[in-house]
Amino acid sequence: MSDRKIGAARSLRGQTNVPGDKSISHRYAILEALAEGEGEIENYSPAADCASTLACLEGLSVRVKRDGRHVRIQGAGLHGLRAPGAPLDAGNSGTTMRLLAGMLAGQSFESVLTGDSSLRRRPMRRIVDPLTKMGASIQAEEGGLPPLRICGSQLAGIRYETPIPSAQVKSCVLLAGLYASGSTTVVESVATRDHTERALEEFGVRIACTSGMATVAGGVRLEARSLEVPGDLSSAVFLIAAALLLPGSELRLNNVGLNPTRTAVLDFLATMGAPIRITGRRTLAGEPRGDIEVHHGPLTGGSVSGAETARMIDELPMLAALGPFTERGIAILDARELRVKETDRIAAMVDNLRRVGVDAESFPDGLTVPGRSGGPLHGAEIDPRGDHRIAMAMAVAGLAAEGETTIHDADCVGVSFPGFFDTLDRLTER
Ligand code: S3P
Repeated sequence: MSDRKIGAARSLRGQTNVPGDKSISHRYAILEALAEGEGEIENYSPAADCASTLACLEGLSVRVKRDGRHVRIQGAGLHGLRAPGAPLDAGNSGTTMRLLAGMLAGQSFESVLTGDSSLRRRPMRRIVDPLTKMGASIQAEEGGLPPLRICGSQLAGIRYETPIPSAQVKSCVLLAGLYASGSTTVVESVATRDHTERALEEFGVRIACTSGMATVAGGVRLEARSLEVPGDLSSAVFLIAAALLLPGSELRLNNVGLNPTRTAVLDFLATMGAPIRITGRRTLAGEPRGDIEVHHGPLTGGSVSGAETARMIDELPMLAALGPFTERGIAILDARELRVKETDRIAAMVDNLRRVGVDAESFPDGLTVPGRSGGPLHGAEIDPRGDHRIAMAMAVAGLAAEGETTIHDADCVGVSFPGFFDTLDRLTER
């Protein structure tokens, strides 16, 4: 439980890389484990969440060798996983639990997936329902909460229309589909991040994708690959926001993932007038990436709703914290999903913004944050409620507040961005 003090800063200058993309790292690790041969992943995310995925795979007798950001995985093949000797611990990671549940539903053994106290409060009915339709046998706690006891079964392909936009649910069903008879189709009303689809293709799985729909066939063979993970745009956003709000800032972020299902936040910032430029665009293993250049500039503010909200779900805490530095403020609508993230992010952002003197208001599926006319922010004690993105969003706001901000339980940033405070210190001019 460490505290971190944030003082007022003049600007953010220089260049850096951000940690490897968390979503892509999980997927590459899982697919290498199911592939034939030895696979290699460069720039694997240092996030605690991605370490949880590797630990769970090791619990299934997959051989993993890790040297920092370089990971080697000896593929077990689709049917080579072994029954775990103990519950598999997904830690704080919803992606680990939901994706692995899909994979485990098709095994010939029983397994238990559990997690930390935050994850054990997060809804799993959204994956239990489609997996049960495929013939899986899964027992959850009351209310559809973890731990999940998964008794592997013979699955049958289904066509599933996701009731909420969720890449985790889509990916869970597609991974189960690899074990199912016939074909499995997921239909989404909002196209969520498509890293699973792109990764499956890289591993040699034929996957048919049209807008809002993905289909895989069961019983295929995956080939081990050598892959490099791009930087995580959802982590980069905290540094981008800091550069935008501190006068005199000039920042360059190298090799950041720019998959179009993730870049809605950059488009939204651009509509607010943010001076952001992308250079060096390239695509590796089906994942676009490039360098992001950003400097300080005034922001108009605006409102996010509908499909846009879903497409920048992880960036909404940072957008909310940018609100008080914009001309008109920020409104975030249709964001009920924020209530069931690592913490209730609507409540956590409104509470912490109020602590620094911002008159933010919540409603059941969103929040509003007034703009600059609300006056300057003052330093305060921040309680991120164990949520990495709340801690980072409030730390960035603290750079532009009067006086000192204390982020309690600051180590929670390690869930996605372990070096966050050091990176911020290095780039900050006071
Ligand atoms: C993720 C999907 C999103 C996102 C999470 C990572 C993924 O969750 O919030 O941080 O890697 O698939 P949902 O699928 O619940 O929207």
